[in-house]
Amino acid sequence: MGNIPPLSDPGIVPDPYPVYARLAEREPVHWCDSLSAWAITRYEDCTAALSDRRFKAERMEEILSGKFNGRELPAENIYHRFTKNVMMYTDGTRHAALRRSTTAGFTHEAHGLYSKLIERVARDLVAGVPEGVTEIDAVSGLAEKLPVQAAVHAFGVPEEDLDDVVPNVNRVMTYWSGPQEQPLELDQLLDHLAELHEYAFELVAGKRGKVVPGTVIARLAGSFSDQTEVTPEQTVHQLVLLLIALFAPTTPGSLGSGTLAFATSPGQIARFLTDPACVDNTANEVVRYNASNQFTWRVATTDVHVRGVRIKSGQRVALFLGAANRDPAVFDDPDEFDLDRPNSGKNLSFGFGPHACIGRQIASLEIKWFFTALFSRFPEIRLAGVPEWNSNLEFRSLRSLPLSLG
Ligand code: HEM
Repeated sequence: MGNIPPLSDPGIVPDPYPVYARLAEREPVHWCDSLSAWAITRYEDCTAALSDRRFKAERMEEILSGKFNGRELPAENIYHRFTKNVMMYTDGTRHAALRRSTTAGFTHEAHGLYSKLIERVARDLVAGVPEGVTEIDAVSGLAEKLPVQAAVHAFGVPEEDLDDVVPNVNRVMTYWSGPQEQPLELDQLLDHLAELHEYAFELVAGKRGKVVPGTVIARLAGSFSDQTEVTPEQTVHQLVLLLIALFAPTTPGSLGSGTLAFATSPGQIARFLTDPACVDNTANEVVRYNASNQFTWRVATTDVHVRGVRIKSGQRVALFLGAANRDPAVFDDPDEFDLDRPNSGKNLSFGFGPHACIGRQIASLEIKWFFTALFSRFPEIRLAGVPEWNSNLEFRSLRSLPLSLG
């Protein structure tokens, strides 16, 4: 590929978009050795693959053998029990039933309540910045804190359990999605997964701290015994998946990269402050501009041809959502951060098709209320130093963001 840096180069993480653009133009279906997968970078091809039944979401055996040097685990191991029983890695009717089993937590009425709760925690968070402070690290000081507060107040994780559950999820995420060359310790991943299962079971069984009524967990626990389509164990698996998604780097990643986008585009803060339509479009444009889950995976169940390239049965594809979001065939001036963009909502940052993110509304509420609270107190934020990115491209997020509060 001539002078295009490889997708495995950590040097591209701060700005992978020129690499994506060149790949999309010259080789939109590109074999990537480091991912052992076909990297797909055009919008149309990503949406087609995400709704094509010939690509299955069930992929964790391939990930296991790819990341852990072909190590095999017995079928009854927690890894297989979990990955074969959660919506994210299952397909067809099984996937639909598992997903349906969680709908009590994600109704229209429930989101109305979460919106009010998240608005309050966002306001409290920004109000907590002491008077007279003129500069902060927006990642550790704000972006990482809001999802944790939302997890307690809207999701219902008992506050006293945070010290157990958050480090566990962080470690699972490190082993789960770290770069392939990273030393990975499967036994530790299995221990953390087992601990999360024990925790989730105790939570729905009412044996942990008190779950606030009306929250996602309270609603799931309320429907625990009425489930007819799924087993109690499968309900616990869904809750573990939700806990992982809740404390994963995706939401803080979007809050952090969004803060960076605003801090370097003061005109967009002005648009936010003057036009309610821009406020409503903020979550869409923030996640379009920088996807915190840059790519997701599928496995071909049969030979599939994409743009003349033969993807063989059993091969993996990495669908580059972050690249699709900057596809000029769909988004005019895709490298502009623009709250007036008419079609920001077409972004693929929350996936597409049957597996589209179930937490999209909650994450979008966090983004909207975060910036509402931030700009009502600090309308003149600016970059105060060099932002540092974590090295993981798959879950792309800032490590630190020095911010002047104006
Ligand atoms: C900015 C934050 C978030 C981003 C960028 C994000 C991104 C995504 C993406 C890309 C997918 C699709 C994966 C695929 O098709 O392979 C997905 C699925 C999912 N997300 Fe999120 N997510 C976010 C927040 C959340 C939150 C807060 C929750 C929990 C409430 C959540 C729960 C889930 C679940 C359960 C699925 C699987 C849905 C299914 O397979 O049917 N996500 N997310």
